[in-house]
Amino acid sequence: MLSAMYIHIPFCLNKCNYCDFLSFKSTDEERKKYVDAIICEINMYPKFPLETVYFGGGTPSLLTPEQISRILNNLNIKSSAEITLEVNPKTVTLEKLKLFKKAGINRISIGIQSFNDETLKLLGRLHSSAEGEEAFHLARKAGFENISLDLMFSLPNQTLDDLKSDLTHLFSLKPEHFSIYSLIWEEGTDFFAKLEAGIYKETDNDLEASMYELIIDEAKKNGYIHYEISNFCLPEKRAIHNTKYWKNEEYLGIGIGASGYYQNIRYKNILKIPEYYARISNNIKPILEEEFIDSNEKELYEYILGLRIIPDGIVPKGKYIDLCDSLVNSGFLIKDNSQYNLSRKGILMANDVFSKFI
Ligand SMILES: C[S@@+](CC[C@H](N)C(=O)[O-])C[C@H]1O[C@@H](n2cnc3c(N)ncnc32)[C@H](O)[C@@H]1O
Ligand code: SF4
Repeated sequence: MLSAMYIHIPFCLNKCNYCDFLSFKSTDEERKKYVDAIICEINMYPKFPLETVYFGGGTPSLLTPEQISRILNNLNIKSSAEITLEVNPKTVTLEKLKLFKKAGINRISIGIQSFNDETLKLLGRLHSSAEGEEAFHLARKAGFENISLDLMFSLPNQTLDDLKSDLTHLFSLKPEHFSIYSLIWEEGTDFFAKLEAGIYKETDNDLEASMYELIIDEAKKNGYIHYEISNFCLPEKRAIHNTKYWKNEEYLGIGIGASGYYQNIRYKNILKIPEYYARISNNIKPILEEEFIDSNEKELYEYILGLRIIPDGIVPKGKYIDLCDSLVNSGFLIKDNSQYNLSRKGILMANDVFSKFI
């Protein structure tokens, strides 16, 4: 049965220079109206007993703890559920974090991006390295025992030594989990414009590969398990919510631009706030597009998403066994009885491996 819900909060204090996530600046009034609307949307679906709830953004920590509490009170949440809130360091105080915890949040994911002040400025982040670190300590003080940090690498002019210093800083904090993303040059961003104008250039492929290998090796040395392409955790601390995506389980996506997977349909919600409100006020689900997933596509998703979970891998059937065997021969997969996992080479070239399935 469906057991996960993603809730999109499309508000940010400011747009970061690299980011094309659906988010805008907002007033208190707009955030209040939006919370009312997502509660209406939530009530259009059955009250599934949820094992995970994920507030993503944008910057969900721009909502007040009361607003988070109101949303959670409209859900049917199992007592053992993982309830995650994405946090921007600039939006929290000790008091606010304590109240988020009281409202039911038990996992915090903080957008750190880098511990280098110059890099943070280049990224257009509003916080310093010290403020990022302070947000982590405040979350600990508020009682959070499950904290994830987001970082980025392969940034303009970043050297291997810059990355090394970010990693040293990261491991000194001992978060339970971290995600580290290689920069994607998204069209429409300030970064993309600078790339086109020749002000920035893309990181050389060899340097990017060395950076990724450094991350993998340093994480291992520091006791972290590399359990997904961009995700690392201490033992037993995988992100339960995201793992449901990679296991191809169904989930509800709530809020503008949210994606969901429900009753064999992958859907995406409307991207414009006024249209979203119009649908909600007419009590119509705010779905923009839907795609029915037949059993063949479901199997394909299971393999492509499943391979992302590096330690678990996949157990293919039918024609996919031959494909996986050929990927073992070319060194991209490792076979253990009927289970296939990405090799180190496969991890480094994961997108090439996934494309072989399509
Ligand atoms: C919704 S944000 C997380 C929370 C919050 N908005 C923040 O940034 O503090 C999700 C993460 O995606 C990553 N991200 C965003 N844009 C990216 C890009 N263009 N390339 C790679 N990673 C990106 C960042 O690490 C970011 O923390
Ligand atoms: S990275 Fe986070 S804070 Fe920055 S614009 Fe994107 S969603 Fe907002």
